[in-house]
Amino acid sequence: MSFRLQPAPPARLNRCQLFGPGSRESLFAKMAVSDADVLNLDLEDSVAPDDKDQARRNIIQAIGDIDWGDKTLSVRINGLDTPYWYRDVVDLLEQASDRLDLIMIPKVGNAADLYAVDALVTAIERAKGRKRQLGFEVIIETAAGIAHVEEIATGSPRLQAMSLGAADFAASMGMATTGIGGTQENYYMLHEGQKYWADPWHWAQSSIVAACRTHGVLPVDGPLGDFSDAEAYRAQARRSATLGMVGKWAIHPSQVALANEIFSPSEAAVSEAREILAAMDHAQKTGAGAAVYKGRLVDIASVRQAKVIVSQAELIAG
Ligand code: COA
Ligand code: MG
Repeated sequence: MSFRLQPAPPARLNRCQLFGPGSRESLFAKMAVSDADVLNLDLEDSVAPDDKDQARRNIIQAIGDIDWGDKTLSVRINGLDTPYWYRDVVDLLEQASDRLDLIMIPKVGNAADLYAVDALVTAIERAKGRKRQLGFEVIIETAAGIAHVEEIATGSPRLQAMSLGAADFAASMGMATTGIGGTQENYYMLHEGQKYWADPWHWAQSSIVAACRTHGVLPVDGPLGDFSDAEAYRAQARRSATLGMVGKWAIHPSQVALANEIFSPSEAAVSEAREILAAMDHAQKTGAGAAVYKGRLVDIASVRQAKVIVSQAELIAG
């Protein structure tokens, strides 16, 4: 590691982000009582162009009226390539209550995108005397976004989280896929007549995780469209968790429990991590730098791995 320490990401849970269209007000109260850690009220692609103004009004009203509990509350604004985004930012900052925690900026392509939104948000916060500083989250879902992922991770001190948006990403990359995320039928290796499926999202996910971990941002997996297939969701979420992502979106309430299940370390994983820490503690007291735990080597790196699991469990325990 360089002499610069890896910064810690925001110390909050982000196991599940539940989305709901800003044009479907009736869903807001249901979202508020869900078990998701983060709620995303959407102004972007789940809202038709003719409904944008009404959706914005619905969201502004609801931010103040609904009891969102201790959830992180976020609004996905429209992309910087649309005529809507500046009105989203201005109206949210001028009219919504301070309860709003984050805005999510879709389709970011470079650090200047964050700089531009930051400049507008900062000016309105100062003009309005907003007491709480608004945070940002972004979606990496274009070729430019993944090509510039590290500069995006440094694009604004407001940035808290970064998600992979599989469907738009696939479209922008020209990938021959349909559907939103998950296993792709045509992405396989052939060995002795047997097909072995590989993971077409792996590179993008790992790039996002590396950029986020370098700069203290939470890496998050985006949506899986087929909400009737719980096992497909679990499989995708497990791959994402294995690669270092902290959570995943839900586009239907049935996916919330699945995300919480996969992104919460199991009791067995937590007690094994604590046992490794205890084994290493004992080893270090006797002057050893490594120990044997259940027939395998554990050393200082194992301590760091175990601490990731234990600190996540402590965050969940509150
Ligand atoms: N949040 C909270 N509750 C939701 C919900 C959501 N996103 N989507 C549906 N529900 C509720 C329904 O109101 C219904 O409640 P009820 O039992 O009280 O009647 C229940 O969950 C079952 O809903 P269901 O009938 O299965 O779904 P639907 O046909 O009403 O809606 C979708 C399906 C996919 C259109 C809807 O879930 C949705 O809009 N999801 C979010 C899409 C989005 O925001 N996309 C942008 C990010 S990719
Ligand atoms: Mg998208």
